[in-house]
Amino acid sequence: MVERSHDFLKKVLHPQAICIDATLGNGKDAQYFLAQKVKKVYAFEIQEDVIEKTEKAISNPRLFVYHKGHEHMDIIHEPVDAILFNFGYCPHGNPEITTLPDTSLEAVQKGIQLLREKGRMALVFYAHKQANQEQKAIENYVSTLTSCDVCKVQMMNHDAPYLIEIEKK
Ligand SMILES: C[S@@+](CC[C@H](N)C(=O)[O-])C[C@H]1O[C@@H](n2cnc3c(N)ncnc32)[C@H](O)[C@@H]1O
Repeated sequence: MVERSHDFLKKVLHPQAICIDATLGNGKDAQYFLAQKVKKVYAFEIQEDVIEKTEKAISNPRLFVYHKGHEHMDIIHEPVDAILFNFGYCPHGNPEITTLPDTSLEAVQKGIQLLREKGRMALVFYAHKQANQEQKAIENYVSTLTSCDVCKVQMMNHDAPYLIEIEKK
């Protein structure tokens, strides 16, 4: 699903593209954006030690990391082409520190506001402690959007993370 989320966003990644990695973690998604030669990647992460490790590994002048929750995404004041959320906890990190239903919903709502026309957002949902409430809250919200096309991509024959693709009209 991570690969599918990257494939979905690829269409809007170009040399002038502004991107947001809403859950930096180990930086795999930020690295993907940077490899597409986009103009700027903003990233949010609440764990300082995770940021330090990831910034050391990536260190790129086009990457701007905020030690803040993604619910503060409205500190960005320019239209955005692509936003990616990977909900849950940091791979190889503390499984007790996860994204949370209320703040995840607030961040998705703010992200939708920031998206430019034809901008895209990908949401990847993993199993974690509060995943059910998080998924419900976000699905209830995105399924009512009239400003966007919203599509759910899910495996039918086994349990796996699933993806919601959103494109602003
Ligand atoms: C599934 S991981 C992200 C994986 C990451 N994109 C990567 O490529 O490794 C989720 C991350 O979200 C972070 N997180 C939790 N709550 C957050 C919040 N409110 N705002 C931003 N990041 C948050 C966690 O600390 C964790 O590192």
